[in-house]
Amino acid sequence: MKYLYALMILASFVEAPAAMASPASDTLLAKYKAEGVSKIDVAKAKADWTKEAKGEDGEMMSCSTCHGTDFSKAGKHHKTHKVIEPMSPKVNAERFTDEKKIEKWFKRNCKDTWGRECTTQEKADFLTFLLAQ
Ligand code: HEC
Repeated sequence: MKYLYALMILASFVEAPAAMASPASDTLLAKYKAEGVSKIDVAKAKADWTKEAKGEDGEMMSCSTCHGTDFSKAGKHHKTHKVIEPMSPKVNAERFTDEKKIEKWFKRNCKDTWGRECTTQEKADFLTFLLAQ
């Protein structure tokens, strides 16, 4: 019986990982930590996701303008109307698997959305938050 419980506990970990980390996301998070991030604030990332600010072209924008708030569903670019695949790594296995891609889009999206680059802290918060969706 003891073994059965141990197995059940083990299985529950395997079935429900807290976050879908990838080697790329692990490397980036380690880099952000090396650059001074000591505490991840997932609640702030969640609030920031829908926080509106004046984007690069003067419109009020948030991350959810293109990506939506249901991470299991596809989003849509607000201008080109191009479909953006779901952000949840649980439904989209390609998410957060390429360091260069993640950094490239952080740079571009933060500027588009808030008219400035995200800080290392904001990127660490966003990435951790998104991996758990
Ligand atoms: C103007 C539309 C738009 C807005 C606003 C936007 N994004 Fe994106 N984002 C995209 C597109 C397009 C891609 C690239 C296509 C893809 O990965 O499906 C992307 C990709 C990403 C990626 C890369 C994901 C990966 O798999 O590597 C991250 C991270 C990201 N966005 C975060 C953000 C954050 C954080 C915000 C808010 C600060 C934001 N985005 C706002 C359009 C947008």
